[in-house]
Amino acid sequence: MEKIKVSLKCMDCGKEYAPVAIYRCGCGGLLDVVPDMEYLKKKVSKGLFDSRLKERTAPYGSGIWRFRELVHPLVSDTDIVSRPEGNTNLYAHKKVENYMGVDSVYLKHEGENPTGSFKDRGMTVGMSEAKRLGMKKVACASTGNTSASMAAYASMAGLKSIVFIPEGEIAFGKLSQALAYGSQVIQVKGNFDDAMSLVQESSTALGIYLLNSINPWRVEGQKSIMFEMLQQLSWKSPDWVTVPAGNLGNTSAFGKAFEEMKELGFIEEVPKIAAIQAHGANPFYSMWKGMRSELSSVKHPKTIATAIKIGNPVSWKKALRAIKYTNGVVEEVSDQEIMDAKAVIDSSGVGCEPASAASVAGAKKLRDAGVIGKKEEVVCIITGNILKDPDATINYHFSRIEGIKPAWPNKPTVIEPNLEAVRKVIG
Ligand code: F0G
Repeated sequence: MEKIKVSLKCMDCGKEYAPVAIYRCGCGGLLDVVPDMEYLKKKVSKGLFDSRLKERTAPYGSGIWRFRELVHPLVSDTDIVSRPEGNTNLYAHKKVENYMGVDSVYLKHEGENPTGSFKDRGMTVGMSEAKRLGMKKVACASTGNTSASMAAYASMAGLKSIVFIPEGEIAFGKLSQALAYGSQVIQVKGNFDDAMSLVQESSTALGIYLLNSINPWRVEGQKSIMFEMLQQLSWKSPDWVTVPAGNLGNTSAFGKAFEEMKELGFIEEVPKIAAIQAHGANPFYSMWKGMRSELSSVKHPKTIATAIKIGNPVSWKKALRAIKYTNGVVEEVSDQEIMDAKAVIDSSGVGCEPASAASVAGAKKLRDAGVIGKKEEVVCIITGNILKDPDATINYHFSRIEGIKPAWPNKPTVIEPNLEAVRKVIG
């Protein structure tokens, strides 16, 4: 078997580690998976990845493992835990383009993954690594989607899973998934950031494998959103990729994906990343706007988009590196902007959960400000399925969300059961 040199490297002090179950360097820095570029340069090509498109079953039928050499070259077939996932569609819709004022917009719908969010892409790689390492228990803190995904993949792998969620703060669709797939669910009396620090402490103390995006293998899997997008666009970069930003795993992963694609000669131009935060949970935006070099956390984050209700994002340093590398930007949007953008995405037939709509709301705001040009090509990442948070959708259409005046409410009409009444309301 070929010898492949893969290591984990601290982004702060540069110390390298063999790929074992660690998530931070001794100095506290975040770890990157360092791929074996010499091996990759010999091994991978557009032709190789395109030839795997005809596969339907795992591993190569997965939109993650199709790029196996780039996401985890060390894992064996028997350790791969895959549904399979990925292969999500790009949607173009006039309504969205008009709303944004941009001629060419694609929505990449990550809500089409097996558990309804992009998390499955990082989870298949993280869970396969847990198996490769012989771990017996896995854990995560979550605003909902990570827990839903981890619960499903742990059950497939036959591992015990424990999720730490902020009490009463996650959407019902997500909580129901974690329970149904069989995780042990621990509700923490606090917010996501409290749950996140508790799970880090607990996993280290109790020998549990941590599957948040602080785990560098999760980031490796999420790079595939960009690999797949580029493949769908015939390996031609769009001008912009906009992405909702919470714990900043995706932003980090996209930057790493582009660095690798560029180094391997797959693309000439690197797309600019626009990371979009909710106004009430905007520490990364504040840092960016204030041109500060350190992040100050938001103590009591508040937004209707519970998935990105995060005040102290773990991966901010990697995300900042990604924004700088791609010459990108960070933006913030209000809950009103999020919910109106969601109504546009929903009524175009695509649909999404609130956090996902931040990518479209943010792109519109950047277009209005002239940062994104009308003729530029924009891909907005839709991170989660519309069914994840039906309460938010219903409450919007019933005008029941405090502080939000829906631009396009669509409230049902109640009638007597007769044809006349139907005639009257249909007109
Ligand atoms: N969109 C959705 C639907 C999410 O669930 C998340 C994160 C994000 C966007 C933000 O992505 O963290 O990579 O910046 N959800 C995590 C969770 C935190 O626990 O499910 P990010």
